[in-house]
Amino acid sequence: MRDMGETKTIPWVLEKKKRHQKITMLTAYDYPLASLVDAAGVDMILVGDSLANVVLGLASTTEVGMSEMIHHAKAVRRGVKQALLIGDMPFESYQSDTVRAVDNARRFVQEAGCHAVKLEWFDRCLEVTERIVKAGIPVMGHVGLTPQTAEQLGGFKVQGKDADSAGRIIDDAKALEKAGCFSLVLECIPSPIAKIITEELSIPTIGIGAGPDCDGQVLVTHDLIGLFDRFKPKFVKQYVDSGALILEGLKRFRQEVEEGQFPDVPHSYSMNPEELAHLKKCE
Ligand code: KIV
Repeated sequence: MRDMGETKTIPWVLEKKKRHQKITMLTAYDYPLASLVDAAGVDMILVGDSLANVVLGLASTTEVGMSEMIHHAKAVRRGVKQALLIGDMPFESYQSDTVRAVDNARRFVQEAGCHAVKLEWFDRCLEVTERIVKAGIPVMGHVGLTPQTAEQLGGFKVQGKDADSAGRIIDDAKALEKAGCFSLVLECIPSPIAKIITEELSIPTIGIGAGPDCDGQVLVTHDLIGLFDRFKPKFVKQYVDSGALILEGLKRFRQEVEEGQFPDVPHSYSMNPEELAHLKKCE
């Protein structure tokens, strides 16, 4: 469908839904991981505010702000060649003031080179989405479990389990499409609800804990590669245990240094023996 050398675009992602081809999205927060995710051919890279948990060791995503997000998004940008890059708007960067929301969205594009921003559902998010889209910045919405306001939703729980709340999520999703979102993350909702939303919207749905019928799937990369074990939601699938591999390498380093096996000759610089003899004579 595309040449691997060329950057993916929003029309390209929309076209994937039309063709019933699954869309992939993963998070990245720094240059090395972004380079790997991009080299794997993943369609979209999200600089998620999950940065707070999996990189900065904080308890909540509400604890990161614009400066951290922009700093990490810039590093990610340097590793991205082909994926669509999305900056996740952090808590309080878009909720309290619409003008500030547009300014902050613009920072992701101008300073960090993102192609789009993502924001979570809240009561005024339709107005904010419309303003950001009007400023020429594509917006990805996020409904269901919205971690920045998880406390108001009763904690980190599956959302939309009864008909009323499911109906509200479906309405929110439709309203976000109408407000101009190019795509929606559906987090932690029953699979049948995600299926209804996916069928009723013309924009792609990207699931995380939303079952197999979404147009695409996102995971937090640190969960997928085994670099974060403080909590593991049911929807996480760990594909490799890089944490164990890294630990093994670190332990071997410690052991070899302690036992005098490293650094050895192949990892050291030599000197012309005559120069060395001359030096010693002069000392
Ligand atoms: O911050 C994040 O990583 C996210 C994804 C879980 C969608 O919002």
